[in-house]
Amino acid sequence: MWSMKKVYLDSAATTQMRDEVIEKMISVMKETYGNPSSIHAFGRSSKSLIENARKTVAGYLKVSASEIIFTSGGTEADNLALNSSVRDLGVKRIITSRIEHHAVLYTVDQLKQCFNIEVEYVDLKETGQVDIEHLKALLEESNTKTLVSLMHVNNEIGNVLDINAVGNLCKENKALFHCDMVQSIGHFNVDLSAVPVDFTAVSAHKFHGPKGVGFAYIRKNSGLRPLIFGGEQERGQRAGTESVHNIVGLEEALKIAYANLKEEKEYVTALKAHFIETLKKEIPGVKFNGDCLNAETSTYTLINVCLPVSSEKALMLLFQLDLKGIACSKGSACQSGSDKGSHVLNAFLSQEDLQKPSLRFSFSHYNTKEEINYVVSVLKDFVES
Ligand SMILES: Cc1ncc(COP(=O)(O)O)c(C=O)c1O
Repeated sequence: MWSMKKVYLDSAATTQMRDEVIEKMISVMKETYGNPSSIHAFGRSSKSLIENARKTVAGYLKVSASEIIFTSGGTEADNLALNSSVRDLGVKRIITSRIEHHAVLYTVDQLKQCFNIEVEYVDLKETGQVDIEHLKALLEESNTKTLVSLMHVNNEIGNVLDINAVGNLCKENKALFHCDMVQSIGHFNVDLSAVPVDFTAVSAHKFHGPKGVGFAYIRKNSGLRPLIFGGEQERGQRAGTESVHNIVGLEEALKIAYANLKEEKEYVTALKAHFIETLKKEIPGVKFNGDCLNAETSTYTLINVCLPVSSEKALMLLFQLDLKGIACSKGSACQSGSDKGSHVLNAFLSQEDLQKPSLRFSFSHYNTKEEINYVVSVLKDFVES
């Protein structure tokens, strides 16, 4: 029977779950079904799974377990940090960038409408990197209580933020620092005992874990209060019966990600380099958006490519790729249903480049060089047709 080749290059949207994670989750669903808040043995078993997962997570980030709050994912963790900072911590000014995820940008818009906070957007360089000098100037120009919200790894262009520099600047200027680490935890080692970050958002489905679960790191004694009220779960910081199997799935996915980090990182880094080289060779005029070509300041997990074709032809591109079994994104997955274009690319690309189609290809250790070669040949045919 004819079967279509399928190539999944959209791991920044979500990753394929690891078999070991699925198996672990199934065993929890079958065997450990007590409500973690119940005091009987069934409940206590569930509770201990959650507390062990919390310790595991805290261990990797080098923080204490009480600073980890499990959530429904990255979006909730971003909302928690931003909302509570304004509502409970007296933040009246937020500095962010125009290339943040909508979980941050739309939350900030909402806070501006409801609480009339001041919002500043830090300047970006040509590569989309945050202009640290401008951030410094913004921090120094005001005594208003400020929160800085800047992501670690950008989900569309892969730029990596210098979190040490930003954290130290925030500390010097008595500002709080929220850092969305949804695209970095599980792909990079992050030691939060060494970086002055106050709040972090993380999501399991970006590192081969389940969807609908993540966590917030909330620095001790920060004074943050819940977003969701009800029972006393998560030490009163996040009400609602815990999703035990998801939390255990997150833990298992993180354990495997960090156990295999060196090997998988090397493998995926080589795939990215191969993709870039082959594209340059086969498609003259191809451009790379953001800082993709700089291995030091971009992630190894994705590239964002601008193809040398007209805007009319561009309309058919994702459709054509889908027909060939290739999954990738135009901007982030959350926007692919809209035709507004990418707010990230809009923030720093020239008008000329914005007329051309840009695609994000994001990888994992499940991908192969053969897949990359196939994708490049399809792209080449498209550009030349
Ligand atoms: C940078 C970033 N922040 C936040 C999120 C939202 O995370 P979740 O899907 O777990 O709500 C995503 C996922 O698309 C992301 O890439």
